[in-house]
Amino acid sequence: MRTPYLAGNWKMNLDRRAALDLVGTLREHVGTRTDVEVAVFPPFVYIDEVARALAGSPVRVGAQNCCDEEKGAFTGEVSVSQLRDVGAEIVVLGHSERRHIYGEADELVNRKAQRALDGGLDVILCVGETLEERKGGLTEKVVRTQLQGGLAGVATRDMDRVTIAYEPVWAIGTGVVATPAQAGEVHAYVRGLLSGLFSTDVAQTVRIQYGGSVKASNVKELMAVGDVDGALVGGASLKADDFLPILDFAR
Ligand code: 13P
Repeated sequence: MRTPYLAGNWKMNLDRRAALDLVGTLREHVGTRTDVEVAVFPPFVYIDEVARALAGSPVRVGAQNCCDEEKGAFTGEVSVSQLRDVGAEIVVLGHSERRHIYGEADELVNRKAQRALDGGLDVILCVGETLEERKGGLTEKVVRTQLQGGLAGVATRDMDRVTIAYEPVWAIGTGVVATPAQAGEVHAYVRGLLSGLFSTDVAQTVRIQYGGSVKASNVKELMAVGDVDGALVGGASLKADDFLPILDFAR
């Protein structure tokens, strides 16, 4: 049984006040629930305070990126140990905005993933095709390359700390959500790849989130798909009124 994993990627949004208001409401709403796993990914500068505000709550805190190097002269970067030091437990890697705006290739994503897992952070690895790639029939090829590339050299024993997020680029921030059938097809494909790369056991236990224009109005039908184990939510994670109903999709 894979516990539904619902995560809010705030991207470069919210200020200190709004962040603390949001997690205050979130903390109260989630209480001691264990039927869903919930995590938030604030901008680096708010991780510390958000983690303190959530201390003792099952809601977990993560970062949206990390450096592939351990420490040293890497101006502007943030290390895995620094993230852990301020309370982050997870890191999102390979997000399409990192890949497409900042040019992160699979090799860099892979180095970050290995560094994060070695340093004690869990990983959400994002994969997904552009509209052009989908139209060109390249969805599986793109997803396969990103998954294999991102997870190269990752030990099977570490896969219980890895989540995959399928985020079709054409669905991110566009209001165009993948249909349950489209998501289901790619999620099943990813699960098959995990089986080949690691084991059937890994494939059955790793959670695969869907991301891209998830809202309260569409989360239920997406979560009804067998291979969809959660959601990585952008825009709709920024306000309690939008995010809390997503956590309650099953109610
Ligand atoms: P939106 O939910 O705003 O489409 O963003 C999805 C996303 O990129 C989450 O990482």
